[in-house]
Amino acid sequence: MSEQQGEFDLSKLKDKIAVVTGAGNNGIGWGLAKHAAALGMHVVIVDLHESLVRTASIKLSETFPNIRCVGIACDVTSPEAMKACLERIDAELPTKLLGAVFANAGVLFNRTILKSTIEQWTTTFNVNVIGVVNTIQAFVPRLQKQGADAIFCTTASIGGLVRGDGGSGSYQASKHAVVSLTESLSFELARQSPHIRVHVMCPCIVESGLGTTSKTNQMAVSGQMDSAEIEPVALGTHALAMTSEDHARQVFDHIAVGNFYMLNDNTRPYVDHDFPFDGVGMIKQRFDNMLALKIDNSDAMQRGPSGIASATLKGPMFHELQRRALKDKP
Ligand SMILES: NC(=O)c1ccc[n+]([C@@H]2O[C@H](COP(=O)([O-])OP(=O)(O)OC[C@H]3O[C@@H](n4cnc5c(N)ncnc54)[C@H](O)[C@@H]3O)[C@@H](O)[C@H]2O)c1
Repeated sequence: MSEQQGEFDLSKLKDKIAVVTGAGNNGIGWGLAKHAAALGMHVVIVDLHESLVRTASIKLSETFPNIRCVGIACDVTSPEAMKACLERIDAELPTKLLGAVFANAGVLFNRTILKSTIEQWTTTFNVNVIGVVNTIQAFVPRLQKQGADAIFCTTASIGGLVRGDGGSGSYQASKHAVVSLTESLSFELARQSPHIRVHVMCPCIVESGLGTTSKTNQMAVSGQMDSAEIEPVALGTHALAMTSEDHARQVFDHIAVGNFYMLNDNTRPYVDHDFPFDGVGMIKQRFDNMLALKIDNSDAMQRGPSGIASATLKGPMFHELQRRALKDKP
């Protein structure tokens, strides 16, 4: 185990800057931004649209008047935009060090491989994978130069650790890439820059409007919608989902104990129910099958508790959701 892991004192982050990409809506990034602010960090909210980052940064400044909060509209798929983002941070917060960078922006298009368009594949890989690479290339050299303890954290998904499932092939393939490239980053920094602690978030189910933000962003990028009209999306209504606040709390707890793979498995004390997603069980199942050199497609033969055939949306959480739905039926 390298120095990159082991315990980390979160109080070292106070008065340093947290950069969070994809924090302009009400999802995971917004939860991380709020938690970082509560730790006394100055927060840079990065998202695609000026309207989003302005609203989010005003909201955060009102709640945490003692920190600086800056909103920067920036497309993570552009290396030039990410470098300009760091220049803007230097101009806005010239005396502060970077303490944490969260490469969190992402998109999801739920379609089968045969039905999804090449545009959806390209957008998915550009945002979810190249966006992370651009964030690494823009910010890690600065973290190396600073020499102070810092966090670099990517957002993959539990979908990046379990087997490829039906209906979101482009998303899962991109998230497997994020897990792998974050492992590579951790390895590359282990010897010369162990002060940069690298982590990969693998959320299970967290409240957000990801499906909607993905569609809206694609319409804005293709010119079908005016970027100025885009407002933060309302949250979904998944009864057992983790809130973005609880999720962020668990992420910082993972950072504090030095966990590299940050599975957010919808378990207590972060939720008030006992119906986990069972991500770890599914990872184990995948590797058991790999060791046996076999793929198990039995889940494809029937609709699971989520109403669709799935090898992932099938654990205790989905059984409970199905039980509740059946109970509510007249
Ligand atoms: N919500 C979940 O259950 C869940 C589970 C696993 C992984 N994730 C991952 O968490 C991350 C955050 O998603 P979320 O669920 O909080 O939804 P979200 O919609 O709140 O966050 C995604 C954000 O990324 C921004 N974005 C998209 N393209 C961008 C671009 N080119 N440049 C800059 N910003 C861009 C969006 O505008 C949006 O604000 C994503 O990477 C997602 O894949 C979410």
